[in-house]
Amino acid sequence: MQRPDWAPETIDIERPSVARMYDYYLGGSHNFAADRAAARAMVEAVPEAPLMAQANRAFLRRAVHHLAGLGIRQFLDIGSGIPTVGNVHEIVQRIDPRARVVYVDVDPVAVAHSQEILAGNEQAAVIREDLRAPAKILGHPDVTRLLDFTQPVAVMIVAVLHFIPDSDHPAEILRTLRAALAPGSHLVLSQACEDSHADAGERAEAERVYRRTDNQLWVRDPAELTALFDGFDLVDPGVVWVPQWRPDSPGHAENAERAVFMGGVGRLGG
Ligand SMILES: C[S@@+](CC[C@H](N)C(=O)[O-])C[C@H]1O[C@@H](n2cnc3c(N)ncnc32)[C@H](O)[C@@H]1O
Repeated sequence: MQRPDWAPETIDIERPSVARMYDYYLGGSHNFAADRAAARAMVEAVPEAPLMAQANRAFLRRAVHHLAGLGIRQFLDIGSGIPTVGNVHEIVQRIDPRARVVYVDVDPVAVAHSQEILAGNEQAAVIREDLRAPAKILGHPDVTRLLDFTQPVAVMIVAVLHFIPDSDHPAEILRTLRAALAPGSHLVLSQACEDSHADAGERAEAERVYRRTDNQLWVRDPAELTALFDGFDLVDPGVVWVPQWRPDSPGHAENAERAVFMGGVGRLGG
């Protein structure tokens, strides 16, 4: 197939990417036939996959509004994905045009498309880095230029940690990030969690689909996700299914466990 302008030469468009599959679930157009085939196989195994992505995205939006309401004006969004409706900078810069946002992703399409939409935005940038190398993220010139770590920063790692197996030491990664943060900073996490409704067959099929990509699925249980907030105080309501995290209305939290993603927000005290 023909490579569109937004697709960097270096990417293998025959191999599905988790960023472009997620874009497909959300109704985006930055995906290829291989991504759509893998995403459709996922939807066949787990029909709620697009709803899960939307519920996760809505959680991200509510968390950002909550943090902006607390006066947070600096955001480091790691594993930010292909830009879609309600990107962090759009939400916070509408509230305060001086708010600063740095996006980080390993996926070249996510970075290229983010660069395009951030052109001319002096208060936001995107960098191509890997969450598994947090010191490189913290030391990146765009991060040190835009974010003042003597002031509170919100670190967002939303729908990414299920691509970081325990062998990649997520707790250590989060410790490195936490050590750089000032009191009053926040950590926002969500990830695929053990799910009361999904049967073993659905989960095995989902894992099989993701083996086609560069990222394996690493599902955690709620206690394991809670433990990753080590050093942060969880704000109410703690780690919950994402639709249950401060829903816009109580009805929005019904059948929440079908969302598969759990999430929470932690505050660094001191
Ligand atoms: C499911 S999307 C989530 C996008 C966005 N955070 C959201 O919640 O809407 C996961 C993103 O994490 C990125 N990702 C996966 N592993 C990563 C890593 N080790 N470092 C940085 N980004 C990563 C993928 O490229 C993808 O864009």
